[in-house]
Amino acid sequence: MKMIVEAALAVGLVSLLAACPPPEETTPDAGSGMVEATFTSLYGDYFGNCKQCHAPGAPGRTSDIETTLDFSSKATAYTTIKTGMAAGLTGNKTMCNGVPFLGTTPAKSLLLAVIDQPTRQAIDLSPQYPGCDIDTITDGTVKVGKQPSTAFLAALKTWITNGALNN
Ligand code: HEC
Repeated sequence: MKMIVEAALAVGLVSLLAACPPPEETTPDAGSGMVEATFTSLYGDYFGNCKQCHAPGAPGRTSDIETTLDFSSKATAYTTIKTGMAAGLTGNKTMCNGVPFLGTTPAKSLLLAVIDQPTRQAIDLSPQYPGCDIDTITDGTVKVGKQPSTAFLAALKTWITNGALNN
C-alpha cells in the first residue's frame, strides 16, 4: 500500500498591530477644511486638481489645452502661474492667449476667473484683451468636476491681493 503524503502549505498571516504615531507630518489642511492664503495651502487644496490635465503627459491632457500652466509640482505651478500667460488656446478662446494668469488684483486675474463665476462675469482685464471675457473664459470647475470651497476662493483672493508670494 502506497502512502500519499500531502504536504499542507501553511500560510501565516502576521498581524501588525503596532500603534502608528499620530500623523503630525501630513499635508497641511488635509481634512480640516481650512485654507490659508499661502501658495502651499492653495496647492494642497483645490489647485491639486489641476495636474490631472495641466502637466506634461497628464492623463487628462488634450491637444487644445492651455499649454503654459504646469501643475506637476508646487514649484512648477507657482512659476508658471506667476510668470506665465495663457497660450495654446484654440477657437474663440484664442482671445485669451497672451493674458497673464495673475493681475494686480483678483478682479484682473484669469487664474481666479476660471474657477469663480462672479469674477468671470465682471472680469476687468487690461483693454489689450477685449475678447477675453465671460464668453471665452473656460469654466475650470466643470473640468475639475467640483467647485472650490468658499474658504479656498477667499484664500486665493487674499493671496493675490498680498502679492502672490511663493509661500
Ligand atoms: C479635465 C482637464 C482639465 C482640468 C482638470 C483643468 N483644466 Fe484648465 N483647461 C483645460 C483645457 C482643455 C483648457 C482649454 C480651454 C477649454 O478647452 O475650455 C483649459 C484652459 C485653462 C485656462 C485658460 C482659460 C481661458 O479660457 O482663458 C486656465 C487659466 C486653466 N485652464 C486653469 C485651470 C486650473 C487653475 C485648474 C484647476 C483648478 C484647471 N485648469 C483644471 C483642461 C483642464
